[in-house]
Amino acid sequence: MSQLSRRNFLKLTGSSAAVGTLSLTTPIAHAQPDKSHPAVGNTTLPYPREVVAWLGELTINQPLSFNYPDDRSPCVAIRKGREVKGGVGPQRDVVAYSTQCTHMGCPVNYDQESETFKCPCHYSIFDPDNAGQMVIGQATENLPRITLEYDEAEDAILAVSVDGLIYGRQANII
Ligand code: FES
Repeated sequence: MSQLSRRNFLKLTGSSAAVGTLSLTTPIAHAQPDKSHPAVGNTTLPYPREVVAWLGELTINQPLSFNYPDDRSPCVAIRKGREVKGGVGPQRDVVAYSTQCTHMGCPVNYDQESETFKCPCHYSIFDPDNAGQMVIGQATENLPRITLEYDEAEDAILAVSVDGLIYGRQANII
């Protein structure tokens, strides 16, 4: 068995260290996210920004139907006439919700007298003044709340995202 000279030994170990350094640093350098591209790292698709209504056309306590984030997702916007949790607009009184019950997907109705959403299938009740909280019934989840914004220049109410999973979906944007 031949013996390695000191020079050859250093050459060999130096080369190995260099290769080792390259093999360690190269994948880490490639693993850095490209921060110049805002979509990198996102796990969900972006929500559309859509005009729901002009504030002036909303009558207090009168539900206005619309679809969001697509045509298969019925929703209702309500101007409550008083500040409510999550409300938008000058009085912070406009809120919106998906109208598919979180229990089994039946369409819930806004009851103007009690100012709640009521499900006709198994009688769950949801509170639009309190982020769609399930008050009573078979459902275990709150009604998905449509996140709204108010455009003061246009006097427009816009839907910009959904807080909560719409019934029957694995993701709100599909
Ligand atoms: S579907 Fe609404 S309570 Fe069952």
